[in-house]
Amino acid sequence: MATFASRDPSAPEFWSERFEQEFTPWDRGDVPAAFRQFVATSPRPYVTLIPGCGTGYEVACLSEAGWDVTAIDFSPAAVEAARHALGRWADRVVQADFFSFLPDRPVEFIYERAFFCALPRPMRQAVVARWAELLPPGGLLAGFFFFDDAPKGPPFGIAPAELESLLAPFFERITDEAVTDSLPVFAGKERWQVWQRKPR
Ligand SMILES: C[S@@+](CC[C@H](N)C(=O)[O-])C[C@H]1O[C@@H](n2cnc3c(N)ncnc32)[C@H](O)[C@@H]1O
Repeated sequence: MATFASRDPSAPEFWSERFEQEFTPWDRGDVPAAFRQFVATSPRPYVTLIPGCGTGYEVACLSEAGWDVTAIDFSPAAVEAARHALGRWADRVVQADFFSFLPDRPVEFIYERAFFCALPRPMRQAVVARWAELLPPGGLLAGFFFFDDAPKGPPFGIAPAELESLLAPFFERITDEAVTDSLPVFAGKERWQVWQRKPR
């Protein structure tokens, strides 16, 4: 049974401990079908940012499709796991904190999976503000959103109406679909959504 010293998911140590002890129930070991479909049907490759990438399997999928992708994680152990898993694409993973990271070129697409729900609920407004800051009008935020009302986390679920009220000032939702290949921890409670940045 794993034991952990850090109880604060807003700290990198929390996540490093879990990667080091290989306690990663959110880690799929591959790329979700809805994401793969999104990439395959996209009209063109987008300059992509993956915040809180963990092992970052999506980096290989995007890179092989010719996309320009940068994946960031503030946990050194997560970055190490990602670089190990990604082989030739390892240099696309950067150790950085999402809230202070400055991309060196304009981001067109932000991919979300198990990052928003990893953070304590009081941080949500700040995550949304940073998404909105990083994306230009027309830019896309797409990924998996976890809907649940259990008080304990991570993952910290959100109510659909709360997600809507947080995002609607900045984004318009253009896709909302059920997910069929969830891991047990998210099963029946996550949806694939695409949100487009509104004009500023
Ligand atoms: C539950 S894991 C999800 C990892 C990955 N997105 C996935 O789908 O497997 C959450 C990740 O977010 C990272 N993280 C949390 N807060 C962060 C921050 N402020 N900046 C960068 N990474 C962060 C953690 O280190 C951890 O690797």
